[in-house]
Amino acid sequence: EMGTRPTLREVERIPLQASTVDNWSQIQGFEARPDDLLICTYPKSGTTWIQEIVDMIEQQGDVEKCQRTIIQHRHPFLEWARPPQPSGVEKANLMPPPRILRTHLPVQLLPPSFWEVNCKFLYVARNAKDCMVSYYHFQRINQMLPDPGTWEEYFESFTNGKVSWGSWYDHVKGWWELKDKCQMLFLFYEDIKRDPRHEIQKVMQFMGKNLDETVLDTIVEETSFEKMKANPMTNRSTVPRFILDQSTCSFMRKGTVGDWKNHFTVVQNERFDEIYRKKMEGSSIHFCTEL
Ligand code: PPS
Repeated sequence: EMGTRPTLREVERIPLQASTVDNWSQIQGFEARPDDLLICTYPKSGTTWIQEIVDMIEQQGDVEKCQRTIIQHRHPFLEWARPPQPSGVEKANLMPPPRILRTHLPVQLLPPSFWEVNCKFLYVARNAKDCMVSYYHFQRINQMLPDPGTWEEYFESFTNGKVSWGSWYDHVKGWWELKDKCQMLFLFYEDIKRDPRHEIQKVMQFMGKNLDETVLDTIVEETSFEKMKANPMTNRSTVPRFILDQSTCSFMRKGTVGDWKNHFTVVQNERFDEIYRKKMEGSSIHFCTEL
């Protein structure tokens, strides 16, 4: 009913935002550096959360430094393009090393230079059902993405990979298969939720940092859902309403594990499990879907 919602375009059969596709040669030509850290996620898997965790570690728990600017500006978003503003690639090119960058791209679409430099990858995966629920709500409020349609319609789009950045299944499988072949820390949203301190410690070690217990406590505290929901530097409240309309649903929506139970009917759940089994057959990845 909005009429103004954009349609997606495809690169190698992966639906992406048109502006990203328009900028594709610049993205593919991106020159990674050995000291880059790339945060990789399928959308709605905890990107903002891990960004804040990484930044808190980088700033050694200095809350004020993490307030220097909104989270979207702290780590260049590789495939982001919205002329005439500088693109994600242009922002990354201006960033002094060591750079921390973010992407939602599936492995096969990553700029090839990343595979040549042996830099670090931090992947966060979230269980498919909660991811689908979160993405559905996000597409409802995000005017830069297509209208998700009804929940029933979205079920088809999501399970068929007809959403921006493509199939959840292929994304997760693709990155999981690479995890032992490069410098990658592979985390689960559900684990961070269950034991944030432990997972944050892993990130700290991966980044080669050694912080005091008290600093670690501060990071756990400051990156909680409640704190980040109330924090204007992480909750997207400064994004104009014509882009992200948070009047009906917040970007920081629920931040829980298992909200899918409030959305899936019994029949949908059975069908989803069946599709999931087929698509994930042969993969050793295992998710916790309830907490
Ligand atoms: S995006 O648009 O792809 O960058 O979104 P992303 O940040 O990956 O995912 C948004 C979901 O993550 C939840 N979130 C958190 N959960 C727990 N703790 C913290 N600190 C946190 N920060 C963000 C956010 O609420 C979205 O999930 P849902 O289920 O919709 O609430």
